[in-house]
Amino acid sequence: MSPLIARPSEALRGEARVPGDKSISHRALILAALAIGESMIEGLLEGEDVLRTAAAMRALGAETTRLASGRWQVWGRGIGGLVEPEDVLDMGNSGTAARLLMGVLASHPISAILTGDASLRRRPMARVAVPLRAMGAQIVARAGDRLPLAVVGTGEAAPFSYRLPVPSAQVKSAILLAGLNAPGLTTVIEPQPTRDHSELMLRHFGAEITVEDGPEGRAIRLRGQPELRGRPVHVPGDPSSAAFPLVAALILPGSAVRLPGVGVNPLRTGLLTTLKEMGACITLENERTEAGEPVADLHVAAGPLDGVEVPAERAPAMIDEYPILAVAAACARGRTVMRGLSELRVKESDRLAAIAQGLAACGVKVDADADSLTVEGCGGRVPGGATIATALDHRIAMSFLVLGLAAEHPVSIDDASPIDTSFPGFAALMTGLGAAIAPAEPVETVTEDA
Ligand code: S3P
Repeated sequence: MSPLIARPSEALRGEARVPGDKSISHRALILAALAIGESMIEGLLEGEDVLRTAAAMRALGAETTRLASGRWQVWGRGIGGLVEPEDVLDMGNSGTAARLLMGVLASHPISAILTGDASLRRRPMARVAVPLRAMGAQIVARAGDRLPLAVVGTGEAAPFSYRLPVPSAQVKSAILLAGLNAPGLTTVIEPQPTRDHSELMLRHFGAEITVEDGPEGRAIRLRGQPELRGRPVHVPGDPSSAAFPLVAALILPGSAVRLPGVGVNPLRTGLLTTLKEMGACITLENERTEAGEPVADLHVAAGPLDGVEVPAERAPAMIDEYPILAVAAACARGRTVMRGLSELRVKESDRLAAIAQGLAACGVKVDADADSLTVEGCGGRVPGGATIATALDHRIAMSFLVLGLAAEHPVSIDDASPIDTSFPGFAALMTGLGAAIAPAEPVETVTEDA
């Protein structure tokens, strides 16, 4: 356990470059390993989640070399060319790594066993196991299709059409990755569009993939068994990581912060839309496209925020940002209602419960039901003065540290180590902007382990 404390802080100022996008980093490593030849990846997130994917791709026969910070060379083996790993693949805390890997393994004629940390072993895998079994893979898991599980892949995967029962980019991606080694067309229909990094990167590596909006939703069709060729990839800054300094700058009066090179894929920018509706001053400068992904420099200045209603349809475009939005809502004037949050119950922790318990412990009036959250904003500094159990959840850890900066009394977290899964260097980046975040003495926690 490594506890941290965030003390009430003055204005944040300056420029900070957030680490590479986690979703895109996983996909870059996986597709580079499935391509023929060399791929040079720049800006790769070197957080623990992505390093698990790198280790797994190495165990499956790809050659990966870290040339410099964020600069990785990968020699791929071609679709269908992965080899059986000699040992269990430990995916740590990463749902994305586990689910995407299951898709890759499903259509390779090899066997592999996947496990993860206590958080990942609690998370549902049926959402990927069910369609992958229908494609021909055998998957044997613990009760409820939880990790550890074994995948016995097939070399003769059947082309497949699947309508997503939950809006999940991980499930969509697992099926598309399995479809890479199936003859013919693999189709995924998503009633609500989710992040499309897999589609963009598959196209970048040379796959034939079409996307069509229809009455049933969005249909994504991938032609199987393409020859993927190694490509350079530039990973943009992660908008889900930028969200933390961005909200901190909004709620600490007098702040002005610039965050260069952040991904602004429209399927990821629900938080920016919501914050602007709350009255936030956020501008996008120097908009450009890098490796098929939209990127911009974000400029944010503090100002009063007002509570809003966040519609359920927006959830897929900001699914990881509700913890930090709840922090902004706690400091805003009036009530914020967020709907369509049932997926938050199956993230790294039960995030809906963790947000509600943590805000209540910090003196904020909050109400959660099965899939919605209502926060009564304080219209300024929140009381604070609590210690939050992070329950192996990086985004809960960072969100409550940001809340502590805008509180009357310090807020501590019991364990900062989960932050390294997505945002290595978080505390240093924030203190560089003027935030008072420092190591703390271990103390009793006041929220339940979610
Ligand atoms: C991700 C998809 C989302 C998100 C996760 C990353 C991805 O999960 O919460 O952090 O990279 O595909 P779901 O697919 O479960 O919605």
